[in-house]
Amino acid sequence: MGKSKDTPSSGGKSSRKSAGKAFDLDDPKLPKRIDHGALQSGHYPYDSKMDSHAYEDELRLLQIELLKLQAHVRDAGMRLVVLFEGRDSAGKGGTIRRFMRHLNPRHAQIVALSKPNEREAGEWYFQRYIRRLPTKGDIALFDRSWYNRAGVERVMGFCTPEETERFLQVVPTFERMLVDDGIVLMKIWLNIGREMQMKRFHARRHDPLKQWKISDVDLAAIEKFDAYTIARDELLSRTHTEYAPWTVIRANDKKRTRLNALRLVLSHCDYEKKDEKIVGVPDPKIVLPAPAFLA
Ligand code: ADP
Ligand code: AMP
Ligand code: MLT
Repeated sequence: MGKSKDTPSSGGKSSRKSAGKAFDLDDPKLPKRIDHGALQSGHYPYDSKMDSHAYEDELRLLQIELLKLQAHVRDAGMRLVVLFEGRDSAGKGGTIRRFMRHLNPRHAQIVALSKPNEREAGEWYFQRYIRRLPTKGDIALFDRSWYNRAGVERVMGFCTPEETERFLQVVPTFERMLVDDGIVLMKIWLNIGREMQMKRFHARRHDPLKQWKISDVDLAAIEKFDAYTIARDELLSRTHTEYAPWTVIRANDKKRTRLNALRLVLSHCDYEKKDEKIVGVPDPKIVLPAPAFLA
């Protein structure tokens, strides 16, 4: 199931292992091999980052479109859920901030739950997420979601294998209920390569503005890269449904990621005064339905 996608350009399993060992996160100097390999790791199709000026211009125009979409969501009494998943440091939080930036916060919520507290741990697994689903007229942006059970909880051993299996079995039914009730559910997987993750963790470790983002879960993620890949592939293949499909965005370049996530959501929804020229279509080189990504 597409395992080769995450293999670094340098080669196979053994070199990957040694690449992991040779990397010292605490050393302020990032090895060239990682720095240079980062952008194209995990089969990223571009060899340079997007230009910042073009990015700022497009971002602004897309954020204006998003405001029109929010007005429509209000008027039509829609409930919109956009759920972001992906490895640690994939860029979920930064992308969500670009969505939120100019929205009316009264009718758009970020849902970023931390680990379950004692009360939540005793509830039905989906319960605390259900509480955060939007009411009519609102948009909920999920920074991680119920998919924790098939991702971080599975890989880090925060739940049992049986709990993960049970989750994977029931989640299509759970989502069917949401969609049948009229919730618009979009599931976006931000995908980054191994060297890009290393580079971002390194930046977090050494940039005083980013240090707060490093958690023990993050530190384990480098070691557990392959386990996360296996979890990702199984999660995507078992929970991609016709009514609640996954879209994967190749996310090594944050700017392209954010613009394309906006395009994806805007092109999925109809709203008044939509400027089709600005919305355009998501870049097919980096935005793929899950089955195409896994193929
Ligand atoms: P983030 O990447 O969202 O900034 P972390 O890397 O610290 O945060 O944790 C990743 C995810 O793992 C979070 O959604 C968190 O709630 C979850 N998590 C952390 N510890 C546990 C735990 N003991 N049980 C269940 N989930 C946990
Ligand atoms: P990130 O790389 O996602 O961690 O974010 C980098 C910084 O850009 C953060 O400090 C954000 O506050 C800031 N930022 C927030 N919104 C925008 C925006 N619309 N355009 C550019 N930068 C932003
Ligand atoms: C991300 O950047 O993907 C998340 O928002 C933060 C994290 O991965 O720790």
